[in-house]
Formats: sequence, C-alpha cells, structure tokens
Amino acid sequence: MKKFWLAAAIFSLAALAPQCGLAQKQMLAATPPMGWSTWNHFHHDISDALIRKQADALVSSGMRDAGYVYVNIDGGWEGYRDAAGVLHPNSNFPDMKALGDYIHSKGLKFGIYTGPGPRTCAGAPASYGYEAQDAKMFASWGADFLKYDLCSFREIMKSEVGGDLEKSDALMIAAYQKMHQDLLATGRPILFSLCQYGWGEVWKWGPEVGGNMWRTSGDISDSYERMSSIGFREAGLSAFAGPGHWNDPDILEVGNGGMSADEERTHFSLWAMLAAPLIAGNDLSAMSQETKNILLNKEVIAVDQDPLGRQGDRAYAEGPLEVWSRPLAGGDMAVALFNRIEGATRMTLRLDAVGWNGAAVARDLWMHEPVGRIAGSYTVAVPGHGAVMLRLSHPAP
Ligand code: GAL
Repeated sequence: MKKFWLAAAIFSLAALAPQCGLAQKQMLAATPPMGWSTWNHFHHDISDALIRKQADALVSSGMRDAGYVYVNIDGGWEGYRDAAGVLHPNSNFPDMKALGDYIHSKGLKFGIYTGPGPRTCAGAPASYGYEAQDAKMFASWGADFLKYDLCSFREIMKSEVGGDLEKSDALMIAAYQKMHQDLLATGRPILFSLCQYGWGEVWKWGPEVGGNMWRTSGDISDSYERMSSIGFREAGLSAFAGPGHWNDPDILEVGNGGMSADEERTHFSLWAMLAAPLIAGNDLSAMSQETKNILLNKEVIAVDQDPLGRQGDRAYAEGPLEVWSRPLAGGDMAVALFNRIEGATRMTLRLDAVGWNGAAVARDLWMHEPVGRIAGSYTVAVPGHGAVMLRLSHPAP
C-alpha cells in the first residue's frame, strides 16, 4: 500500500513538473548554456546589424551546430523609459521583435540584459520598479535568456540598510527573486542568468531564486592573469552546480587577442572542467583557424556538456602545477593538468590521487589522439601557462 502511494506521489509530481518553476528551469539548462555575447569584444558598440552578422557567423562557422545557440545582447541596447513606463531600445535597435524573429529563424535563441537597479552599470535605464512590465516586454520580443546585472541596485542596498551585510544580502536576494517570479509569470521559458559578481555566496541561494547560472566573480578581462585567477578560484564550488544551475566564471575571451594559444587552451579546458557556460565573447565574423580549433573542439565541449552535470574540481596541486578531475557519465573521467608557470614543465597525473581505480585508457583531447593505457601514473610535458586535457575510460575487460 505504502509503495502504491509513493508511486502515485511520484507520478503526480511528474505530471505537475511542466508547471513547476524549478523543473521548468532545469529543462532550460540541463547542461551549461552555450552561445555568444556582445560584451567582451564589442562592449557598448552594438547594433541590430552587428547582432545579425554575428548570428549568421554562428551558423556558418559551425558553432551553432556545436551547441552555441544563445545570442546574448549585453548592456548597450537601452534607450529611454517613456511616461507609460515602457523601456525603449536606442536607435541602433529599431525593432527588437524583428531581431528576435531573425535570431530564431536561424535556429538560435535570443538573450537580453537588464538589472534590478534603476540604472545599468553604464547609466542606462534598468528595471527597478518596472520588473513585471520589462519581463513581459522581453517575452513579447521572444527573449529566451535574461542576464540580470546588480549594478546600481548596490546603491539601494547601501542607502536602505547601510553597512548591515546580512540585511543588504536579503534585499539583493529579494530583488532576484522578484524578477524570477515576473519571468515565470510571462509563461515563456527564459533562462535566468544572475550577475552580481558572486556576492553573498550566490552559489548557496542562486537556485532558490530561479538562477540557471550565476557569476562567481567580477568581470573577466583578456589576460591570462585575470582569466586564470577567476577560473581557478572556483576550486571548492563544484558541489553547488548541477543540471539547471551552474557556476559562471564569465564570458570567454578566446579569440580576443590578449592570450597565447596555450593560454586560450587553458581557458577553454578550465571552463569545461568547471562545467561553465560556454558563451563566446569574440568577433565571430573574423575568427582565425586557431580560434576555431579551440571554440569548436568537440571533445572538450563534450566534457563541458557531459549529461551527468557534475562540475570538476582541483584534485591536487604542487604549487602552481594543478591537476583537476571531473566525473563523467558512464564512468569516464576528464582530467586536466594545468601548468600555471611561464615555462614548460613535466607534470604527473597520479590515478589514485584523482580517485581512479585500476588502469585507464586515455585520450588526449587537444591532440585528438589516444594516449594508450595508463597504469598508476602518466608524466607529460605541459607548455608554460598551458594545459593537457585527457579523457579516461575503463579498459575493455
Ligand atoms: C558589468 C557586468 C559585465 C557587463 C557589463 C555591461 O557589470 O559584470 O558582464 O554586463 O556590466 O555594462
């Protein structure tokens, strides 16, 4: 009898799932979101024509088919709010609904940006006091993704509760919860991307406010130092990510010119080990072959998108030589050997230290070739600021 009730409860929960916010969100980002954003390369210099060109390049480069589907307009689209409270795009965006339709016609998804404060970081109008109205308008444009950037809400937190951190965190959490509810009320599934630089240990409450991803740090910039400090700082956060909700170390800088190819391979490997959203941030209409080889490395993307959805973590380190591991579906494991010093050096993967039992069969995910059988340990040369990334499988019996 008990079993019957349990089965009935599970059945009715499953039937309810489509209406349930959490289940809906989980379906939205079952694996880390992939796409492209205007921010890292173009900043505020954006327009309808630019977005269309980049959407076209997502398709012609093969990136869409590799999984990069979100086309995210970051800050810089906003114009003014009129007397009826309607937020108008600036003159670079004559018709947002038409732009959304264009993006959708390419088999892509449309992302937009605002924040809980009265103004964005760039001083444009944001959604404070107009959350429900803006959410409805985004939905009417066909938006599939909303990045919600704290910016001037920080001033509200300060003026309302002064230096009381706990109270100001509560205000911030309530602001994200409000937009979550307003997005749900639109009836359109809109992926909710929290951007408040990791404040208040967002990974602990992000899922409760409907966050599908949340920034874990301040802004990335196009340098090995900044990229690596943000990425490696996620050590210890793996327990907080999973299907539907991901730690976000920020938009990729691959292809923007500030890092060497080895550094960019480290960037992409680290993001994949972190189960991070892979949001390209370069000019897709002018990519070198080297940039394409990185962004389109399907073996590394498969690690990022692994259906088990377990974020990797640091297994062990000897100073700046770090070995990370990530459990994958079907019993495989991804391991990455990161050399954080400038010169090439030899590093050793110890299978017992990454929790692997017995021998392994390994494949090098950047060389795209088998490494062969590893018993106990594997020593390999790793370039300065570079990475070696392997996929381990159990040998056939
Ligand atoms: C920052 C945010 C960046 C970008 C920028 C736009 O606050 O962290 O990712 O969105 O605002 O002005």
